[in-house]
Amino acid sequence: MSNEGYTRLDRHAHTAADDLRQFTLDVLHGLSEKPKRLPSRWIYDEHGSRLFNDICELQEYYPTRCEAEILHAHARDIVAAAGAPLDVIDLGAGDGRKSSILLEAASGARYVPIDISESAMQELVAAMRQRHPGIEVSGIIGEYFDALNWLSTRSGRRSLVLFLGSNIGNFSKVQARVFLRQLWEALNPGDLVLIGWDLKKDIDLLIDAYNDAKGVTAKFNTNLLARINRELGGEFNLEQFRHYATYDVYSGAIESYIVSMVRQTVAVKGLRTSFDFDEWEPIHTEYSYKYLQADIDALAAATGFAGVAQYHDSRRWFTDSLWKVVKD
Ligand code: AVI
Repeated sequence: MSNEGYTRLDRHAHTAADDLRQFTLDVLHGLSEKPKRLPSRWIYDEHGSRLFNDICELQEYYPTRCEAEILHAHARDIVAAAGAPLDVIDLGAGDGRKSSILLEAASGARYVPIDISESAMQELVAAMRQRHPGIEVSGIIGEYFDALNWLSTRSGRRSLVLFLGSNIGNFSKVQARVFLRQLWEALNPGDLVLIGWDLKKDIDLLIDAYNDAKGVTAKFNTNLLARINRELGGEFNLEQFRHYATYDVYSGAIESYIVSMVRQTVAVKGLRTSFDFDEWEPIHTEYSYKYLQADIDALAAATGFAGVAQYHDSRRWFTDSLWKVVKD
């Protein structure tokens, strides 16, 4: 590790050119399909990440505040359960603010964020070093599981892996299960994971959280089209599209869409093609799955984890699971 505060797993590092190539393919593929779809991961460029931070401050978007309440109340117990010496490994850290609550209670721990993007890592390392001068920050640039496998054979410390903020909710149920099993495989017996889940609750609360009055979530979602305009020479007129989020009571997911309000053809010069939209045709952009405690317990059992503790906010709208890796 250099004094930049991170290590690059070179074989797996993504350049901006790799990202652009993959974005191009996903747009071509997703907008050529019926029904049309665009993966939500592409919302998070600089604009999208800033908009997501704004969402976290919205009155209607409760998950961030609920999880902060949980972490403030239980950080000491969580860190004590993990023991020392400890690596706090952060998957999907964002601006690191939530992880900071835990680190306040984890003096002596090492903070290990994992991210594929070097620019995101640079910002995060700088912010975390400033916030926690006493904590060693030692990030890894690479894919989550490559980085975890690399770390688990050489760290010699207990790992506490954070996957907070209901990021798991953006996976399908199958993807969530596969993700958790890969996590289990990459860790050593006795290592811990802390996972944030948004719970099923009154449907109006869910709907409002993804349809805020200020329209920030609409801007966040339609940033996908704005990004195609910026990076791929798209000619989307954002006035002719609207954000739409609905809750599917069968699957338990908020489903987010961008809907074309008129029949139109939109050119994307960088792809040397154009895409036809019917009036009111949707593009699916994101799933945000909501869970029951029984679903969470079943996933732990199915993927090799043993429950250590389950933490809730005062309204029981959100929960963080502390699980231990069991291998025999
Ligand atoms: C990042 N993720 C957990 C958020 C969610 O709630 O699904 C993304 C988001 N989409 C709309 N609002 C927030």
